[in-house]
Amino acid sequence: MRKLHPLQRNIQKIKWEKDSPFNTDFNDKFFQPNVVDETNDVFINANELNQRWQQLNKDHFRIGELGFGFGLNFLITIASWFKSNAQNKKWLDYISIDSFDFNIDDFNKVIKNYPEIKDFADEFIKFLPIANRGYTRINLSKYKVRLTLIMDDVDDALSSLLKNPNNQIDAWYLDGFDPKNNKSMWSKSVINKIGMLSKKDTTFGTYTAAGFVRRELEKNNFEVNKVKGFGNKRHKLIGKYKGSFLDSAPKSSGLRVAIIGAGLSGTCLSHKLANQGVKVDLFEKNDNLNLNPLGSMYPKFSLDVDARSYLLTQAYFYSHNFYSLNYEGYMNTGIIFLNNSADRKFWIDRLLKLGRNDLFEPLAAKEINFQNKIDQPYGGLMVKIGGCVSIKDLSSQILRNKNISLHNGYDFSDYKIGKNISLNFNNGKKYDGYSHLIFCSGSSLQSLMPKIGIKHGAIVGIKNKNLEKINSTINSNGYVLPKYSNLNWSGSIYSNQEIQINNRDSFEEIMKKNNYLLKHVYPEDISASWSGTRATLPDYMPVAGSLEKQKVFVLGGLGSRGLSLAPLLAEMIMSDICGITSPVSNEIREAINPKRFLVK
Ligand SMILES: Cc1cc2nc3c(=O)[nH]c(=O)nc-3n(C[C@H](O)[C@H](O)[C@H](O)COP(=O)(O)OP(=O)(O)OC[C@H]3O[C@@H](n4cnc5c(N)ncnc54)[C@H](O)[C@@H]3O)c2cc1C
Ligand SMILES: C[S@@+](CC[C@H](N)C(=O)[O-])C[C@H]1O[C@@H](n2cnc3c(N)ncnc32)[C@H](O)[C@@H]1O
Repeated sequence: MRKLHPLQRNIQKIKWEKDSPFNTDFNDKFFQPNVVDETNDVFINANELNQRWQQLNKDHFRIGELGFGFGLNFLITIASWFKSNAQNKKWLDYISIDSFDFNIDDFNKVIKNYPEIKDFADEFIKFLPIANRGYTRINLSKYKVRLTLIMDDVDDALSSLLKNPNNQIDAWYLDGFDPKNNKSMWSKSVINKIGMLSKKDTTFGTYTAAGFVRRELEKNNFEVNKVKGFGNKRHKLIGKYKGSFLDSAPKSSGLRVAIIGAGLSGTCLSHKLANQGVKVDLFEKNDNLNLNPLGSMYPKFSLDVDARSYLLTQAYFYSHNFYSLNYEGYMNTGIIFLNNSADRKFWIDRLLKLGRNDLFEPLAAKEINFQNKIDQPYGGLMVKIGGCVSIKDLSSQILRNKNISLHNGYDFSDYKIGKNISLNFNNGKKYDGYSHLIFCSGSSLQSLMPKIGIKHGAIVGIKNKNLEKINSTINSNGYVLPKYSNLNWSGSIYSNQEIQINNRDSFEEIMKKNNYLLKHVYPEDISASWSGTRATLPDYMPVAGSLEKQKVFVLGGLGSRGLSLAPLLAEMIMSDICGITSPVSNEIREAINPKRFLVK
């Protein structure tokens, strides 16, 4: 199937039958009106989930669903998981596939019929809209449930899951439409892949009793039973995998991880691992953290349909959810791109053609000026989701965790891998006993990857009444941010040389990039400045993944997009270390694989 742009929607075609959606493409209903009983019977009880959760002897239980639809099976399953108390210690990993998505209004209309799952739907709706095709990771931490939703054709999505070792399924929900009308969901190739992703005693449930589904499942090593069906269905199929694949689930308890570098990458990764119960030592060479006081997420979505475009889009919305949930100071103000060049105009026009009114809004100069109490000549594009983050404040909030120890003044020197990993620091100290080591050392990664380019940069904090009413990030050739702690930060300088920060010179350069936004601002209005470095690789993609034996990892090369990339890449490395389903596709993993730039 031709790949769509990651922002292109593929909406379910539905009509309503007594407040229940009916799919007109597949000529079938999504579920019976009494769907709570139906899901309990056809999926939860058929897979004996409540009994299995009581006896769970690994860190997480993984469900694979074909057909996410409106997410009712998902929400009803969370209700059971929550009642079972299994979530006290374990996580439910729910991987679901659908090539079609839904409108939020339709979701709300469906959910109104089922008050018993309202609380769970209320938590889930915080993450809507599902903004992109491809993978979307949603952590409902309150219930210890992790959803990996793959918006793609089922066969491609299963192929992608097969390329990763952490995707063995414990229980399947086979919930395509009626096999007569939805052949792609029940094809030989799909059922073969279901077998390949199973292991001894994996179970499945499905409402269908179709003969060819039964035969294909049997061919792929499932023992299949035809039993009494639900509601008006006479029979349904249930069964168990009898093949020889064994459960390969690793345990994350007992892991001890060392991270080098307490910038944004090291901070996000420490937080992710610590929340998984992993003990983390975070080593930083500076005596005090020197972190960006305020930056903006950068939604410069690519117009291409490739791994880079999928990554930038997915990571952007993941970051938004991450900051919304974990960081009190997040200013989700939306981000404006001024239409101030031919390239910008082309980009804005193409994005608007995607029809994502839920994400993008064209604004006239008059509207931009009125909303922000400024006076400048350009209209532009409002990206409605996203905003500003102080890396400095984020770090102080999310590093406060009993599983994280921050060690300042530790300049990393070298490491050795034996049974465990030991580290030497330039202050003469030695630490050992680590199961994993992760380099998040920004521009110092150049010693591992000489191709990393370093751009120095600076921003200035302005105190001026004319900027005080700006309430979104405004991007021109540079940017001006809404007021935070009494300052409007503006940037930014790019230089190959280290910047000796001088407020007047920095101001002149930043002024040039934002001339029509800063025209009533003067050098004496600069009250603060910050400088740092950006690490960038020749292909403008980050590096994230394993360097050595799945024990030594790296996360970096985030360029000017750290705020949009770091949270998702941290979730990816945490998942690899803890044996959890990867939140990104294999195509993306290959595109950001650090081995592409290692010195041979
Ligand atoms: C002026 C400027 C403005 C920016 N604005 C934005 C913005 O608006 N939005 C955005 O998304 N991004 C922005 N960026 C980019 C963003 O700041 C980076 O992408 C992000 O901070 C990278 O984080 P990192 O943790 O990977 O690297 P770094 O922030 O460089 O952190 C690496 C850390 O490792 C430590 N370290 C290095 N070597 C060692 C060692 N040997 N031992 C121990 N510790 C070590 C360093 O001291 C440092 O603390 C901006 C960057 C600059 C310079
Ligand atoms: C019966 S509905 C699933 C109902 C859903 N489990 C729920 O709880 O709302 C079947 C789903 O299969 C999806 N589907 C059909 N063909 C597909 C394909 N080839 N690839 C991926 N999904 C497909 C449809 O979009 C639809 O959402």
